[in-house]
Amino acid sequence: MNNVKKYAFLFIGTGLISLLLGLLCGLLAGFQYIVPDFIKETLPFNSLRPLHTLFVVSWILLSAMGGIYYYLSQNPEIKFFNHQFVQWHFWLFLLTGIGIAISYVTHNFGGKEYLEFPAYFYFPIIVGWILLGINYFKTMLPNFKTWPVYYWMWGTGIVFMIFHFTEAHLWLLSSFRDNFLRNFAIQWKAGGSYVGAWNQLVYGTALFVMSKISSDESYAKSKKAFFFYFLGLTNLMFGWAHHIYIVPTSPWIRYVAYAISMTEWVILFSIIYDWKKNLGKEKKKANFIAYQFMILADFWVFLNIILALLISIPSINLFTHGTHITVAHSMGTTIGINTLILFSSITYILEKEFMFTATVLLKIKQGIKIFHISFICFWVTLLVLGVKKGHWTYFSQNISFGTFQNSMHWIYAVFVLFGFGLLTGLYLISFKLLQLIRNKFRT
Ligand code: HEM
Repeated sequence: MNNVKKYAFLFIGTGLISLLLGLLCGLLAGFQYIVPDFIKETLPFNSLRPLHTLFVVSWILLSAMGGIYYYLSQNPEIKFFNHQFVQWHFWLFLLTGIGIAISYVTHNFGGKEYLEFPAYFYFPIIVGWILLGINYFKTMLPNFKTWPVYYWMWGTGIVFMIFHFTEAHLWLLSSFRDNFLRNFAIQWKAGGSYVGAWNQLVYGTALFVMSKISSDESYAKSKKAFFFYFLGLTNLMFGWAHHIYIVPTSPWIRYVAYAISMTEWVILFSIIYDWKKNLGKEKKKANFIAYQFMILADFWVFLNIILALLISIPSINLFTHGTHITVAHSMGTTIGINTLILFSSITYILEKEFMFTATVLLKIKQGIKIFHISFICFWVTLLVLGVKKGHWTYFSQNISFGTFQNSMHWIYAVFVLFGFGLLTGLYLISFKLLQLIRNKFRT
């Protein structure tokens, strides 16, 4: 196994382990909804929530990067600029991730929402991204004129992640920190945009996998694919406006941002739908599991379009803002779209490297079934929680927060139950995939 391929598997394996840890922290945090004192002294909700988001975001980024390294290492026409950079990138990210997890466990916080770690961790993270950027562009730039869309998406994702992750730390400068409105707007703008940047990595991966499964590069070179790319890019740069309805910006900025982000999803839905329609039986069979994950992702793109369309209507947004409906939107997209596309990518890689035995296939299929049924119920429960909270906020002023929370006890219990189902399904799948990756290192 060459060095880049070996580290690609290490990225993917570490991503899967992060997912296992993230799911566990999510479940423990959910359990605290029902029993507020549960492990409160050691891991209170304000540690578990950042740990959960740290691990699940690490899962998304590490497995997307691992996929990119793997796919490039398999192309005989591509010679990596520097093999050692891949190695340094991996160790930097691994050690930084461990450092951040330790600081959350020891209640050492220092940042903003979603990036609650002490600010010095910014430096190793950004160095890791820069190493990836230098390696990617030095390796790929000579042929950029013939790039299919996924190379553009990966390159764009890397550059914009460096830019917006830096932007998210501008609050360290007093000129930003001391101006409340600027500080607030920049925080949400940067947050929306770096999610857009990682979406470029994930959607690029989806287009790569679909092209390779169908052995048809026309998907990745079509006008529709490039239109999708430019919409994604515009959304990444300007789409944050619909995240900050409460900040006073001009209405037209919000309308344009909203229209772009909805169109982007409609196009993604239609690309996967066309691909599925035109794919022959043999190709579906040869990449059965990767195909299943991609189809499920398409279903979730559809559900998320509907939810996002609704919650972006300003009068509904007023009602849903800060409720579990927003959590249904963020978990719906990070699980339903990102996670499913990344599982499609990992299983595509492993189906290429190994013949899946009947037992492996059975376990993964069982895992998918358990995961999917639980996830639908989990998502609906989040919507119910959100509607109840919105109703309480606007229509039940005479009921105290404590009484309201007590009345929600059983719905929280149902949420945790479905969360457990979601975890069980994803554990079944992830353990099997980790076993296969371990076998790769043994041979
Ligand atoms: C691949 C799996 C998962 C992903 C990608 C994921 C992602 C996320 C994200 C992005 C958030 C932040 C939401 C926001 O700020 O709007 C979140 C919050 C949360 N997640 Fe998950 N999640 C996953 C699985 C789970 C599971 C299985 C549970 C179990 C019950 C869970 C419980 C929670 C809880 C309790 C919160 C905090 C919500 C709050 O602030 O009240 N998650 N998750």
